[in-house]
Amino acid sequence: MKRILLIIGTPVLLFMACSSSDAHADGKGRQPMDQGAKLFTMHCTLCHGKDGRLGLNGAKDLSRSLLSAEEMLAIVTNGKGVMMPYKNALSKAELDAVVAHVRTLRTSE
Ligand code: HEC
Repeated sequence: MKRILLIIGTPVLLFMACSSSDAHADGKGRQPMDQGAKLFTMHCTLCHGKDGRLGLNGAKDLSRSLLSAEEMLAIVTNGKGVMMPYKNALSKAELDAVVAHVRTLRTSE
């Protein structure tokens, strides 16, 4: 949990880490992602697919999304178009974790 909060606290850093290096590739720092990955599989793959690229029901290709972590969080929290809001389905920590996972889907990986 602590680590999740840490990551949320530094979305810019995370953004940079994701786009410029494979900092996630080592076993460390996997904790929040694992939860995020689980949540993503449960709630998001239906439309976005496991790698974020399915694009069902007009869903955006998440591996190519240019949104910041905050913008993603806002969309996941409040929904957009066909995509429903998740603010009632997921806790704040879960929302953060799932967005952190979405960040890892970007094609730099
Ligand atoms: C019912 C299908 C559906 C599900 C389930 C779904 N989404 Fe989406 N998602 C969409 C659609 C459709 C859009 C495009 C909305 C628009 O721009 O009008 C979208 C857009 C997004 C975006 C914005 C991407 C961009 O670049 O604009 C993010 C981030 C996102 N979804 C994350 C998630 C996450 C995380 C989950 C699971 C908690 C999820 N979605 C579940 C359909 C879905």
